[in-house]
Amino acid sequence: MITSKQLRNKWISFYEGKGHVNIGAVSLIGDGTTGVMFNVAGMQPLMPYLLGQPHPAGKRLCNVQGCVRTVDIESVGDASHFTFFEMMGNWSLGDYFKKEKTAWSFELLTKEFGLDAKKICSTVFAGNESAPRDEETANLLVSLGIPRENIFYLDKSNNWWELEGTVGTPCGPDNEWFYPLTDEECGREHCDINCPCGRYVEIGNDVYMQYKKTADGYVPLDNKNVDTGFGLDRMLAFLNGLTDGYKTDLFTGAIARLEKASGKKYDDGGEAQKAMRIIADHTRTAVMLIGDVNGILPSNTGAGYILRRLMRRAIRYCRALGVPGKEMEEVAKVFIEEVYGEAYPLLPEKEEYILSEIAREAERFESTLEKGMKEFDKTLAGLERKNEFMSKQDPSYVRETTIGGKAAFKLYDTYGFPLELTIEMAKERGYGVDEAGFGAAFKEHQEKSHAVQEGKFKGGLADTSAATTRLHTATHLLNAALKAVLSPDVNQKGSNITPERLRFDFNFPRPMTEEEIAKVEALVNEKIGENIPVVFEEMPYERAREEGIVGVFDSKYGDMVKTYSIGTFSREMCGGPHAERTGELGHFRIVKEQSSASGIRRIKAVLE
Ligand code: ALA
Repeated sequence: MITSKQLRNKWISFYEGKGHVNIGAVSLIGDGTTGVMFNVAGMQPLMPYLLGQPHPAGKRLCNVQGCVRTVDIESVGDASHFTFFEMMGNWSLGDYFKKEKTAWSFELLTKEFGLDAKKICSTVFAGNESAPRDEETANLLVSLGIPRENIFYLDKSNNWWELEGTVGTPCGPDNEWFYPLTDEECGREHCDINCPCGRYVEIGNDVYMQYKKTADGYVPLDNKNVDTGFGLDRMLAFLNGLTDGYKTDLFTGAIARLEKASGKKYDDGGEAQKAMRIIADHTRTAVMLIGDVNGILPSNTGAGYILRRLMRRAIRYCRALGVPGKEMEEVAKVFIEEVYGEAYPLLPEKEEYILSEIAREAERFESTLEKGMKEFDKTLAGLERKNEFMSKQDPSYVRETTIGGKAAFKLYDTYGFPLELTIEMAKERGYGVDEAGFGAAFKEHQEKSHAVQEGKFKGGLADTSAATTRLHTATHLLNAALKAVLSPDVNQKGSNITPERLRFDFNFPRPMTEEEIAKVEALVNEKIGENIPVVFEEMPYERAREEGIVGVFDSKYGDMVKTYSIGTFSREMCGGPHAERTGELGHFRIVKEQSSASGIRRIKAVLE
């Protein structure tokens, strides 16, 4: 049996023994420089150093860093997905490379953790036009004692690591370590690491980070770095021979608490087990995000919305489990007092605040949850009535199985149901949700409330919307021009458009110079002068990300996204509407450049 505390300590002491400095953990909330909302990997705060800037602690670093990844949120409820996890990491900043790293990972796994070298499997990069096949790593692994037949060459989708949706960030091919949970083969022809039975688990990876991702492809870095990440939560389960990540000491207290409150047994499986996992996981993440040094609170935008989504999903599952949403507060207490208090001393310091904010969100949502569920049932009943009626009229009628965008928006706006929650509930009953329709209803609502706020839309809607549409397209040109003139790391942090002007917030550490302002204006006007058509295309979110199309996280409403391209100059995920050609915009002028918040600048600009 190895405890989470022992594993954390072992990782650090092993790498300290190899000359690394423990740099400790940083905030979970992204600093805005990459456009990624949360810290998703141990390497993220080290970006400037992986790109070449000297790190004050030297060239060999290690730590255990909390990460939040919400892309797999719907998988949480199974035995191995978490939205918060700790990544055990170590780095070489232009110091040692493949020879040392393969040897140390191997030593840690075989000597410290007692794994059998003959059973270890490894995957390495098969090579493509950006980077060669990684024979070097494969040969090193064989020389250490891993059987050649246990080495697999896989393509970019498996053995290449980069921060998706970003440019200007370091990346490279990786070497992933696998180990079989059992010696029993499942019976399929090749029960190896690719086998769907899941006999092999990935326990960590070493990234050979020697490229920089740019808008035009991958360019080699001067530094040859190593970026290692081993997930503590999964490793802990694995080392203790557990196939269920919720059975480790990180979760046993929380699960016991939920068993006591509900009178149900986790080991009975089924819906109660799923609910307990979801409540435990989401509560843990909420504790970490609220209790972070840059702590956030649930809200309707940005990172706060993701937090709200997590918390409301957990509250809904409390209801399914038969315990009040306030039970999250008790679960949170277990995490703070029994599990993480020592490794994260800020949590006990902020305990009262964290607990009261969790209780407050539970109260808020529970006050409308019941009514919202009724509304949801009513919507489905209405659809069913229609289906029944229509089928009687016309036997070839195809059943309507999509909840309308307006209905989903009502659930959101009146009852506080995040769209994703409605989608999940609909899916459980065999229905879909018109997400584009939701987006449209949302936008219409925003425009209406905007009009009320501004109290200015007397001139007639058509004129006004043409003006805002043009300013919207100008906003895209401005976003691209700022990236071109200032830095590819500049990202949109906020946008607000009235018929008179656009307002655009972006991350940038200092005021722009007059020359930079003039350059940005000139570039936008140049693109207006070229009268470029604005091209709309709907595509899968993943493809948009792969093509480097710029997006704001909270504008993502499902798997398909709307994109607008202005030649190759600007490509953004966006709901529109936009001008048809840039020539319609007129002359672009920046009227103000000022600070908006720490590290965030604000531009106001007009079309004249
Ligand atoms: N950056 C690598 C990962 O997140 C180590 O897996």
